Amino acid sequence: MKFGVLVSGTGTNLQALLDARARGELAPAEIAVVISNVRDAPALARATTAGVPAEVVEHRGFERAEFERRLGDALARHGVEAVVLAGFMRVLTAAFVARHPLRIINTHPSLLPAFPGLDAAAQALAHGVKLTGATIHFVDASLDGGPIIAQAAVPVMDDDDARTLHARIQREEHRLLPIIVRRLAAGQLSCQGRLVRGCAE
Ligand code: GRF
Repeated sequence: MKFGVLVSGTGTNLQALLDARARGELAPAEIAVVISNVRDAPALARATTAGVPAEVVEHRGFERAEFERRLGDALARHGVEAVVLAGFMRVLTAAFVARHPLRIINTHPSLLPAFPGLDAAAQALAHGVKLTGATIHFVDASLDGGPIIAQAAVPVMDDDDARTLHARIQREEHRLLPIIVRRLAAGQLSCQGRLVRGCAE
């Protein structure tokens, strides 16, 4: 199964996928292309270094529908069948999501449905929770919604700030994401097969 990975920033989750690929642990998933909406995203260099095609599809200056049309075209050009949002900082519309039903996954640094949106680690600290974590979920048109595929919990330490807590959460994201991408490609995540609860159908 050919994946497109959408990124906006540093790309440590992309790196976890690339490292798993290099170790031969991602098959039958292939990374066909990495696309960033941010021209100077460091994630792009990670793709290039690994020999994976990297493209920029900028959102700035484009209507949302036009941005998504160009994004969809770029994915289609690479034969992409499934999409990973790995620190992709745009919310996709229902129309885009509907074109890839149960084929778009996202990683989020909290135990959803707690703390959706930006700065999830800071939100966790502000609420004083003692456990937070990472969630991998199918994407729907809501913000960090969609059926949950996998979660891992991490403790919140007394001396954490948002940076140290996010780093601890990211270690779990990096561990989980390649496993889930491989399982999706292997057909082991189907909602019909009831392996993931909360699917609409
Ligand atoms: C990750 O923590 C992810 O959960 C969130 O954005 C962050 C991206 O980090 N959506 P990176 O670019 O993969 O390092």
